[in-house]
Amino acid sequence: KKVVLAYSGGLDTSIIIPWLKENYDYEVIAVAGDVGQGEELEPLKEKAIKTGASKIFIEDLKKEFVEDYIWPTLQAGAVYEGKYLLGTSFARPVIGKRLVEIAHREGAEAICHGCTGKGNDQVRFELAIKAIDPSIKVIAPWRIWDIKSREEEIDYAQARGIDVPVTKKSIYSMDRNIWHVSHEGADLEDPWNEPKKEMLLLCKAPEDAPDKPTYVTICFEKGIPVAVNGERMEAVKLLETLNKIAGENGVGIMDMVENRLVGMKSRGVYETPGGTVLYQAHKELEEITLDRATAHFKEQAAIRFAELVYDGCWFTPLREALSAFVSDTQKTVTGTVRLKLYKGSCTVAGVKSPYSLYSEDFATFGEDEVYNQKDSEGFINLFGLPLTVRAMMQKKVKG
Ligand code: ARG
Ligand code: SIN
Repeated sequence: KKVVLAYSGGLDTSIIIPWLKENYDYEVIAVAGDVGQGEELEPLKEKAIKTGASKIFIEDLKKEFVEDYIWPTLQAGAVYEGKYLLGTSFARPVIGKRLVEIAHREGAEAICHGCTGKGNDQVRFELAIKAIDPSIKVIAPWRIWDIKSREEEIDYAQARGIDVPVTKKSIYSMDRNIWHVSHEGADLEDPWNEPKKEMLLLCKAPEDAPDKPTYVTICFEKGIPVAVNGERMEAVKLLETLNKIAGENGVGIMDMVENRLVGMKSRGVYETPGGTVLYQAHKELEEITLDRATAHFKEQAAIRFAELVYDGCWFTPLREALSAFVSDTQKTVTGTVRLKLYKGSCTVAGVKSPYSLYSEDFATFGEDEVYNQKDSEGFINLFGLPLTVRAMMQKKVKG
């Protein structure tokens, strides 16, 4: 009997290996999905085997993650509760999908993950698995075993001769990938505590960023970013490039108390440098390329899209249908945006598109030939007709 384990090499997933063997008599196949967590994953090969796994796969998911999950969410303009750019949320389905593929290939009957029973991540992994193959059994040790603390984990590891990672583990619960890093727990659990700048990994604290602004130019084709500062780049490199430029300028730090799907509120601090710049740039470009009705409808869809991604409903008919809608709206979202980054702020400094619907001829306050101001009189009369009728009625009733 075999089980596929979502493996990171940390203490949690390390002790899960002997636990699975002892409690289920499983052969453990470890899978480390590289979504751009910025760590060397090669050393995990030896580590997983030493810890008792029979095999380990290191899967480079970065390109798929960026092109098939991040870009569609960026195009949708989806932001959870007006703030969160969903960095952890959409990383789970891409990893979950690969876990299922490997389970099939290896003939494993179960998939195991190290998420706690109190968070969103367990839901996201398990919905992804169910959507693709509901016959696969899921094992979530944190919902089963009696281990309650890091100290107990260390005891468990030492009793089985497992090296406890000597790397000074952050006091925060963190999740990092190419899009973002999240920080939760410890002193952040009190929303009155300001985040310490020492914890920042991708972004400089705004007050420590350069005293002069940095300009960055981003080109989009059909809503997909394709070039930075005039240089065409493939997706992964483009995002890494923007992370660096924005991070140095302290852009992309966000602090919020969010509503978890599982009911409680939780406080988190997020660093999404490149993502913040891309969202802003994409929005600026849509301002000139989308018509009013489409833009307004898309805003509504974005809220729902964000909830779906947050709730782990990536592989669902509604998410797919919304993506089809969004995709259609992006046909003319092609053009160039220039942004000014300065000590944590990101502001537009120019936008242009061959498909721009903005027309100086129509908008000008100067003299023009295309807009007949006399037309407005009739327009306002009809647009205001219901107001006129109601006011007349009220006058009559009052007598
Ligand atoms: N609260 C965020 C979310 O639900 C981040 C979760 C971070 N996950 C983690 N395992 N540290 O998407
Ligand atoms: C966890 O509980 O495993 C991390 C936090 C979350 O999933 O929301």
